Amino acid sequence: MMSSKKLTQVCVTFWVVLLFCQGVQSHLEVGFYRNSCRRAETIVRGVVRKAIHRDRGAAAGLIRLHFHDCFVRGCEGSVLLDSTSSSKKAEKDSRANNPSLRGFEIIDAAKTRLEAKCRGVVSCADILAFAARDSFDLSGGIYYDVLAGRRDGRVSLENETYSNLPPPTFNVYNLTRRFSEKGFTQEEMVTLSGAHTIGNSHCTSFTDRLYNFSGTNSPDPSLDPKYAASLRKSCPKGSKDLNLEVPMEARTPNISDVNYYKDILAHRGLFSSDQALLTNPATAREVKSNAMSSSGWKKKFAAAMVKMGQIEVLTGKTGEIRANCRVVNS
Ligand code: HEM
Ligand SMILES: *[C@@H]1O[C@H](CO)[C@@H](O)[C@H](O)[C@H]1NC(C)=O
Ligand SMILES: *[C@@H]1O[C@H](CO)[C@@H](O)[C@H](O)[C@H]1NC(C)=O
Ligand SMILES: *[C@@H]1O[C@H](CO)[C@@H](O)[C@H](O)[C@H]1NC(C)=O
Ligand SMILES: *[C@@H]1O[C@H](CO)[C@@H](O)[C@H](O)[C@H]1NC(C)=O
Repeated sequence: MMSSKKLTQVCVTFWVVLLFCQGVQSHLEVGFYRNSCRRAETIVRGVVRKAIHRDRGAAAGLIRLHFHDCFVRGCEGSVLLDSTSSSKKAEKDSRANNPSLRGFEIIDAAKTRLEAKCRGVVSCADILAFAARDSFDLSGGIYYDVLAGRRDGRVSLENETYSNLPPPTFNVYNLTRRFSEKGFTQEEMVTLSGAHTIGNSHCTSFTDRLYNFSGTNSPDPSLDPKYAASLRKSCPKGSKDLNLEVPMEARTPNISDVNYYKDILAHRGLFSSDQALLTNPATAREVKSNAMSSSGWKKKFAAAMVKMGQIEVLTGKTGEIRANCRVVNS
């Protein structure tokens, strides 16, 4: 006979192993909707293609939406939820997201079509993951298979964005730490930063570098003077105008290529966090290697996106399939 103490020990061990397995296994799979909503991925792709055709910046918006979803409470669509009152602001109304995040209407359009076709089946979190993949592919990156089966969360808190999303002022040490909190290596952090090869930024995200960097009354010395001068033209001193934007990568701002890394080597990284990648020997080596191999970077980026898509997901019976991506089910 096993003593009751021993039995308790065995049970606790079993329970811990079970919890551990639940924690590491994401239960996501490629082709999750093959029986329940066969055309789910095709429908999302069609909506994304149309949106990009209308505005090529849409691709950047959707990739960033997926990133901001996954880094805050995991990939469970919390970034899509609207605030329910001014005192209970949702993630999307944080300064880190508003007014810069875009693409919400594209997700809504896909959701509307999916609800018409297969009501209550496809989660908003999965729509985001598919849309980000299609955006990378259709903007000149590559196609990759998306693991699906995420379910939607019911909570979205503005204050959780500040401690989870990296600000553009971060140095390599802090970038590495924040990404490692989400399970990424430093190399993967450099790989994912390459998303900044497409899209726009508001001037307010980097003007600190143009005029009075760290109170020196001069521009950031790590910024190429010519590039700084052209940025000053687009972003006047002291302007807090939120309509002012510049392309994140000036030469091919709509194409997912490695010009982002080439720009960093030329001291033309837009944010401190971009240019910082050249200040550390290991990250600088990654920047150089990505700048030299477009196909290598695209493969690594796709793999890192698949990994990102598995952060703290809700699966099985947890969470819900929202009927409207902006509100939790009642
Ligand atoms: C490494 C740390 C990162 C920092 C500090 C950062 C910060 C920022 C900031 C400040 C903006 C501009 C927002 C604005 O003012 O309009 C931006 C834009 C963008 N970010 Fe990041 N980001 C990081 C990583 C990532 C990752 C991992 C991805 C995706 C995989 C990503 C995708 C994008 C895209 C596509 C845009 C352009 C969005 C648009 O045009 O609408 N970023 N990022
Ligand atoms: C990139 O796309 C935007 C939005 O459609 C457009 O305004 C811009 O002219 C494009 N830039 C280039 C260099 O193609
Ligand atoms: C965010 O706000 C909620 C509710 O106001 C609070 O319970 C929570 O502790 C806060 N979280 C952080 C990270 O500040
Ligand atoms: C990095 O993080 C530390 C600790 O949070 C903070 O004190 C420091 O100002 C940060 N540095 C940068 C450049 O973001
Ligand atoms: C530059 O920044 C420093 C420190 O923040 C401040 O004391 C100084 O007044 C600023 N200079 C100008 C010209 O705004």
